[in-house]
Amino acid sequence: MSEIGVFEFKGKRYEFPVEIGTENEIAIEIKRLRGDTGGIITLDPGFKNTGSCKSEITFLNGEKGILRHRGYAIEDLAKKASFLEVAYLIIFGELPTQEQFAKFEADIKKNTLVNEEIKDILDGFPRAAHPMGVLSSLTSALTAFNPEYTDVHSEEEMYDAITKILGKFPVLAAWAHSKNEGAPLNYADNSLDYIENILMMMYKVPTTAYKGNPIVKKAMEQLLILHQDHEQNCSTSTVRLVGSSHASLFASISAGVSALWGPLHGGANQAVIEMLEEIIKGGGDVEKYIAKAKDKNDPFRLMGFGHRVYKNFDPRALLIKESADAVLADLGIADPTLEVAKHLEEVALNDPYFKERKLFPNVDFYSGIIYRALGIPVEMFTVMFAIGRLPGWIAQWKEMRMNNEPIGRPRQLYIGKTKRDYKTMSER
Ligand code: SDX
Repeated sequence: MSEIGVFEFKGKRYEFPVEIGTENEIAIEIKRLRGDTGGIITLDPGFKNTGSCKSEITFLNGEKGILRHRGYAIEDLAKKASFLEVAYLIIFGELPTQEQFAKFEADIKKNTLVNEEIKDILDGFPRAAHPMGVLSSLTSALTAFNPEYTDVHSEEEMYDAITKILGKFPVLAAWAHSKNEGAPLNYADNSLDYIENILMMMYKVPTTAYKGNPIVKKAMEQLLILHQDHEQNCSTSTVRLVGSSHASLFASISAGVSALWGPLHGGANQAVIEMLEEIIKGGGDVEKYIAKAKDKNDPFRLMGFGHRVYKNFDPRALLIKESADAVLADLGIADPTLEVAKHLEEVALNDPYFKERKLFPNVDFYSGIIYRALGIPVEMFTVMFAIGRLPGWIAQWKEMRMNNEPIGRPRQLYIGKTKRDYKTMSER
């Protein structure tokens, strides 16, 4: 459905189609802007007002705090579905039947072995290497062991690439953890389900039989579901942009891992816990950190707060906060960082600076507290985010390629030196 938008400049009038989405969002389609106006472009650092694509995968309403995947509310999916069920929905567009799910799960399990030579690459890293850097490198290395080009218009080839990365990525993530811990590497155990396998590969030691904890498994599954997709966030946009050059799915996801690592994005879950621990170590003076966050001369930001889209509560943060209370109670853990987090949230939400800027807790504010209660080391928090986000990266990459979208190549406004003549060294 489209209407017309008008742009007038220097006495000239230009018309552009206005597209209306299924949730009544409005977009001015400016494909012809530069051509029709003789060179005028838009300028929008950080793409705060710019849509990069049309998508059917995830709908966010930042003002109302709504998050839906293919029309299903995140609250329902997080509480009623399994991780792979939601992954199937996000990637293929519909919740799977029992038969579809069984085949999907079995085909992923066929891909839980990674080439033994990947261990040689892993050995090349120092033990202290951050697991996100290791994961990004090993994911890119998958291309070396799976060089075949994926014909995205072949349903079978696309499906094979999807089940391959879903099978192998958690193994690489677990190996990055084991490397960081100086622990032996574990292979997947296909008698376990997807989430149990991840936990087993991270924690099994050769000397004793692995015994899972249902509370931990349930909490991890819900956390990872909450991270699966979030429309055109920084790392997903990176996966789309890299994939738009027709780079492979593995190479595109490797780039997504690197983008997610940044502390302004997925790296915030690690930064939140480090911030909370620093507050505790400093005597628990929450007001001091609120003041630092508000001080324009101080680079400190309240990690886990604020969001490009949500100007209301991040629905995921509400679910994670609820789960944090339950998990710590179930596991009998009293974590001082949870109380400090709640106090910080209460002070911030009543402070004019945060209220005026509509800064609320985001997905990263409480997630680290649960990861820590589940025994996940802080360096692995963003790796867990990556494992959760993998289905979304796959789905968005697939949608971009299936729609034959053009290579991403933004324009710029040049403000550098105008033409000048070369001077020899002696003339300078
Ligand atoms: C994720 O996009 C996604 O969907 C991401 C994500 C996903 O699922 O993929 O949801 C995951 O990345 C969550 C965000 C995790 N990052 C953090 O928690 C880091 C702390 N938050 C900020 O750095 C910031 O809020 C961002 C990066 C999240 C959003 O930045 P924007 O949209 O560019 O907003 P901005 O920097 O323009 O801020 C607007 C104002 C500024 O003040 P003024 O210049 O107007 O006076 O709000 C202030 C900012 O200084 N501000 C903060 C703040 N966040 C914004 N001030 C203090 N502390 C903060 N956390």
